[in-house]
Amino acid sequence: MEAWRLSLWTLFSLYLIISGAKADPSQDKRALLEFLTITRPTRSLNWNETTPLCKNWTGVTCNRNESRIIALRLPAIGLNGQIPPNTISRLSALRVLSLRSNRLSGPFPMGLAGLKDLGFLYLEDNDFSGPLLLDFFVWKKLVSLNLSNNRFNGTVPVSLSGLKRLQSLNLANNSLSGVVPDELSGLSSLKEIDLSNNNLHGPLPSWLRRFPTSSYQGIGDDVTHFQPPPEPPTRKKPKGVTKTVFLLIVISVSILLLAVLAFVFALCYLRRKLTIVKDHKLQKKGGMSPEKFDSRMEEANNRLSFFEGCSYSFDLEDLLRASAEILGKGTFGTTYKAVLEDATSVAVKRLKDVAAGKRDFEQQMEIIGGIKHENVVELKAYYYSKDEKLMVYDYFSSGSVASLLHGNRGENRVPLDWETRMKIAIGAAKGIARIHKENNGKLVHGNIKSSNIFLNSERYGCVSDLGLTAVMSALAPPISRQAGYRAPEVTDTRKSSQLSDVYSFGVVLLELLTGKSPIHTTAGDEIIHLVRWVHSVVREEWTAEVFDVELLRYTNIEEEMVEMLQIAMSCVVKAPDQRPKMSDLVRLVESVGNRRASLETKPEKEASETSTPSET
Ligand SMILES: *[C@@H]1O[C@H](CO)[C@@H](O)[C@H](O)[C@H]1NC(C)=O
Ligand SMILES: *[C@@H]1O[C@H](CO)[C@@H](O)[C@H](O)[C@H]1NC(C)=O
Ligand SMILES: *[C@@H]1O[C@H](CO)[C@@H](O)[C@H](O)[C@H]1NC(C)=O
Ligand SMILES: *[C@@H]1O[C@H](CO)[C@@H](O)[C@H](O)[C@H]1NC(C)=O
Ligand SMILES: *[C@@H]1O[C@H](CO)[C@@H](O)[C@H](O)[C@H]1NC(C)=O
Ligand SMILES: *[C@@H]1O[C@H](CO)[C@@H](O)[C@H](O)[C@H]1NC(C)=O
Repeated sequence: MEAWRLSLWTLFSLYLIISGAKADPSQDKRALLEFLTITRPTRSLNWNETTPLCKNWTGVTCNRNESRIIALRLPAIGLNGQIPPNTISRLSALRVLSLRSNRLSGPFPMGLAGLKDLGFLYLEDNDFSGPLLLDFFVWKKLVSLNLSNNRFNGTVPVSLSGLKRLQSLNLANNSLSGVVPDELSGLSSLKEIDLSNNNLHGPLPSWLRRFPTSSYQGIGDDVTHFQPPPEPPTRKKPKGVTKTVFLLIVISVSILLLAVLAFVFALCYLRRKLTIVKDHKLQKKGGMSPEKFDSRMEEANNRLSFFEGCSYSFDLEDLLRASAEILGKGTFGTTYKAVLEDATSVAVKRLKDVAAGKRDFEQQMEIIGGIKHENVVELKAYYYSKDEKLMVYDYFSSGSVASLLHGNRGENRVPLDWETRMKIAIGAAKGIARIHKENNGKLVHGNIKSSNIFLNSERYGCVSDLGLTAVMSALAPPISRQAGYRAPEVTDTRKSSQLSDVYSFGVVLLELLTGKSPIHTTAGDEIIHLVRWVHSVVREEWTAEVFDVELLRYTNIEEEMVEMLQIAMSCVVKAPDQRPKMSDLVRLVESVGNRRASLETKPEKEASETSTPSET
């Protein structure tokens, strides 16, 4: 019977997905209003039938085109009673549902089984009771499930083992009984689990021991007291692994741990400042009313400033809670990749040494954020407080041009072909030219280098990290890692100009042509400055020696490479006023590519048909 009902659910939600694709979320709106009428929260919400749900309703997040609700977060607003059937379960595009810290009761809401896209379900701190009868297999996309601090009883459902993406499972502080099913060892993505404070009994399955003892505290009376503490996973050193390899593993794991710790510290620091967590605890102890707590939350939300048209939906708390890894340390700070609850990734840059005050900083951010161009990485949001300055950008999974060019030069290297290099140059030129038009033609990028250029969806160059020199403290030349890109006239970063941008762009072009970093050392520890090196080679004669060996495998591109080299050399001349303008460069670089395109489409025509810009 159960299985039959579930497949009906499947059909029902399929119907909704198909019919809902074009619908205004008015269906979703009705479902939410019904939900609200029945659960009567103690804190009033600003949900008004006449206001647009995607823009104005607290706790509601829509998809990009505002056709469906994808996240509903209603923590601690005093919702009462059972989740009414056929309300939330109609929000069939829902990915995140948080109803934590309310007074919801009754059995586990079976209706939610129809939410096939559900990734995150937070029902902790409520008054739900009874057994978990749901066939959890239906939630194929579930990543995080928190049912802690309720009164669920019965056994731990075996069907949980079907959740191959589940990373976090919290069933703590319920009244679950029986044994922990061994099948749960099949949860291949699981990173945290908490089964503590239930009535579960032993024996403790061996797979559970890789988690901290607190995860299974109270399982099997006294058993855990006599267990040896869980050993680190490196315990089973496979035979045949040499000591050095083992040492290397230990070292790299420690480095990783250190990096993670450093980030956690950074986050803790932020968290402390916002006192979100503390407030939450206070509120749970009755020290702070839900209203106060939520206004506190809203205050925190407000401080993460989003730009208009931004499709992201998260607040500072989400950002802080996101799993993160360090992407790189740049001139102005460290960049992290953060993966949010709904699985979107963003790049978060944490600025150090900001010299500007709040007003100036915000003004500059508004200028930067106002630039919408396919070749400029869009600034999505920023955050300014006394101690923290954050910038949130789209995350580019393919990495920067620097990593494409210089990363992995070993056996598994994927060569960067000429066409892609051309597209990188064209895109970057267009992006920088666009930046130079901003702020009445005065905006300076100030930090052009290959690690700040990414590939957009059409694989054209897309520049990032712009406009920061104006708000940062000055960096003197010796300590700057961008030295290889810096025009000779720039003595400190604050003196960057549009013409010094042109110089830096020229260095990037040279990098694309030679495959060499702007500053690198030879085997004999000699430090090579790319611009000088190219000059010295080129002075002798135009020789193939300059070009990246990787490019030599492509035929019929020599002429284009030489033309690009000429353009690059014109950018890196010493006298700033002899360098071309960015808008001219767009034309020049494009004409190299265009000729190629016209050659390809009309092979019988002469190449000289198109005008050849000769600069040198
Ligand atoms: C809105 O986006 C969803 C996917 O996010 C898509 O399935 C749907 O067709 C889009 N609807 C419209 C009207 O563009
Ligand atoms: C909804 O908004 C309208 C117009 O803004 C207002 O007149 C009405 O009282 C509001 N309804 C509720 C329930 O707040
Ligand atoms: C709805 O949101 C828009 C933009 O976010 C805002 O301008 C408007 O005042 C809001 N309307 C109401 C009734 O809150
Ligand atoms: C689940 O809820 C508990 C209690 O509120 C909380 O301590 C824990 O951090 C949550 N776990 C996850 C993974 O969200
Ligand atoms: C679970 O709790 C319900 C009441 O909340 C009770 O009727 C039922 O017998 C309990 N089941 C078990 C297995 O303890
Ligand atoms: C379970 O309850 C105990 C005692 O109330 C509390 O200390 C602990 O944090 C709770 N565990 C979770 C995961 O919420």
